[in-house]
Amino acid sequence: MNFPVDVFNKHKTPFYFYDMPLLKATLAELKAQIADMPYHVHYAVKANANGTLLGAIRDAGLGADCVSGWEVKAVVEAGFASDKIVFAGVGKTDSEIEYALDHDIACFNIESEPELRVINDLALAKGKVANVAIRVNPNIDAHTHRYITTGLSDNKFGINLELLGDVVRLANSLPAIRLKGLHYHIGSQLTDFEPYKMLCEVNNRLQDEFEAEGVRFDTINVGGGLGIDYGNPDENPIADFKTFFDVFKNNMKLRDGQQLHFELGRSLVAQCGSLITRVTYVKKSVTKQFAIVDAGMSDLIRPALYQAHHKIQNISNTEGESEKYDVVGPICESSDTFGEDEQLSAVKRGDLLAIRSAGAYGEIMASHYNLRPFAPAVFDGE
Ligand code: LLP
Repeated sequence: MNFPVDVFNKHKTPFYFYDMPLLKATLAELKAQIADMPYHVHYAVKANANGTLLGAIRDAGLGADCVSGWEVKAVVEAGFASDKIVFAGVGKTDSEIEYALDHDIACFNIESEPELRVINDLALAKGKVANVAIRVNPNIDAHTHRYITTGLSDNKFGINLELLGDVVRLANSLPAIRLKGLHYHIGSQLTDFEPYKMLCEVNNRLQDEFEAEGVRFDTINVGGGLGIDYGNPDENPIADFKTFFDVFKNNMKLRDGQQLHFELGRSLVAQCGSLITRVTYVKKSVTKQFAIVDAGMSDLIRPALYQAHHKIQNISNTEGESEKYDVVGPICESSDTFGEDEQLSAVKRGDLLAIRSAGAYGEIMASHYNLRPFAPAVFDGE
């Protein structure tokens, strides 16, 4: 990608830069892959709730997958239709549930029996009926980082297969609950699609079993998790939607009239975002050469938290001799490191570096650690 360095030089660093044409191309490719299928995508707002991005995603016709009342509020205010908003999470509080009920959202993805009873009571008190899907913990290993794997029976998410029948029967017996479907999410940044195939097989078996009892679901929601190419953002700027959806087209046995829902986050917004930061000092130690930049783990915590690697480029000097640097932030923690032994085109004080693929779980996970302010967003070189 050719970054508009002259324009960037007018901005205070660090900042997030969003390539809106790439986001729009990504959304267009997504829609092309699901056209003609009874598939609906709810964008996982947790990946990035920047209002400009939300607007583009709303305009593309996607729904919103929220995991807090504040996210529900953000998408209501961003103009998403309430019948395209779903709300998941293991710890929904009464006030969050009430807000969502007041806005008649499409579905609560429920994660426990007590939550189901609370939603029933709160809906009853309002004279409403809440649509719910039951989140199943299918005990599938997604082969991703252990902090972002969610579908194993030891994880806090969803309802174990052994307990599912009882919760489905309870949902069907409660007066203010309308059971719409089953929900799954097995993990994030999946690049091996075998776990999705296993998920289809689990769901096909469950549907057969429930149908034998006379229970039928309108929707099956398989969550998100489609991974992106952090190593090669320019070669693979758009996620492999075709292979991903083909797994479901080939393996998921949908019933007549049934809809398949997805909750994609990272694969929609990661590649359109870069964290742009300026080199404050180049420091040599006995064994290392450090490029000390003005962005830190408070701006982008993924490397520190998940040992994630984002590609780093010197965008001020693209033609220099390649040298080795540890790219580190100014924060008082050794984990405030964006990359070790990075080969970068020779770096000097004042150069701008781009930390790529930072559109998902970047800006949204920022903190005020060290009392640092939030990095602003810049779009398409304005
Ligand atoms: N649906 C549910 C229920 C989820 O928990 C998640 C992500 C998604 C959908 C969207 O998954 P995606 O398509 O973005 O993989 N902060 C971590 C990722 C945490 C993901 C949490 N759940 C990271 O930076 O890698």
